[in-house]
Amino acid sequence: MSDKERVKTYIDDLDSQMSGGIPEDHVVLISGNPGTFKSSISYNILYHNALENGRKGLYISFQQSRESLETQFRSLNMDPKDVEDKITIVDVGYLRETVETNPDDWVEVFKRYVENIRATTDYELLVVDSLTTLEMISNIEDRRETLFHIFEWLRDIQGLTSFLLTERARTKETLREEEFLADGTIILSKERLGKVETRRYLAIDKMRSTKHKTSYFTLLFDGERFQVTRVISD
Ligand SMILES: Nc1ncnc2c1ncn2[C@@H]1O[C@H](COP(=O)(O)OP(=O)(O)O)[C@@H](O)[C@H]1O
Ligand SMILES: [Mg+2]
Repeated sequence: MSDKERVKTYIDDLDSQMSGGIPEDHVVLISGNPGTFKSSISYNILYHNALENGRKGLYISFQQSRESLETQFRSLNMDPKDVEDKITIVDVGYLRETVETNPDDWVEVFKRYVENIRATTDYELLVVDSLTTLEMISNIEDRRETLFHIFEWLRDIQGLTSFLLTERARTKETLREEEFLADGTIILSKERLGKVETRRYLAIDKMRSTKHKTSYFTLLFDGERFQVTRVISD
């Protein structure tokens, strides 16, 4: 599997820490409390893969509106206009208007939408922001069965690498089925230092078919790009 194509994160100094990137076709969790850069890192992957490899990406938000996300991404030096022919961002409002199915069954709406759009366009990258909010707005009877089904369905879509965002704190008490169903888990966290500074961290907790470190890196954004460095302890 070492010769399998990999999807780079384009976070500086991270891809070299995991054999060049995330194996194609993986279903990867990006997990962290609110405000840990889950949305930003995910878009970073789509944006740079579109610019540098021409890969098409689909970003589905069950949380923030498309406008709000676009404003945020612009402030992080990633203007959605640069990649508008490659990346589609859709939010709940849009899905509600577009997909003709029972609007209360959001898991079905989500699947229908992805299937419809894949029928006409070869999207290679998918971000779901977030699995946690999709769960919250859906009426899921059997969580384990539903998650198992979503993961199997995603794995069966050929040539699609998926990133499922999860709000870590909410599921602390429960068994995290998604963590053993996923092919990889990237954990994001942050810590307040004194009164002004926040330090952010990233760890590759799990990545199937990949040699990688599991320790935490410091995650930095310098106004232009994301970067990881070895944790500087003080
Ligand atoms: N241009 C920026 N530079 C630095 N930090 C930013 C910038 N834009 C947003 N942030 C910070 O990023 C965090 C939100 O990132 P986001 O990717 O939405 O996190 P999450 O999806 O995990 O909630 C907020 O704490 C916000 O203050
Ligand atoms: Mg977010």
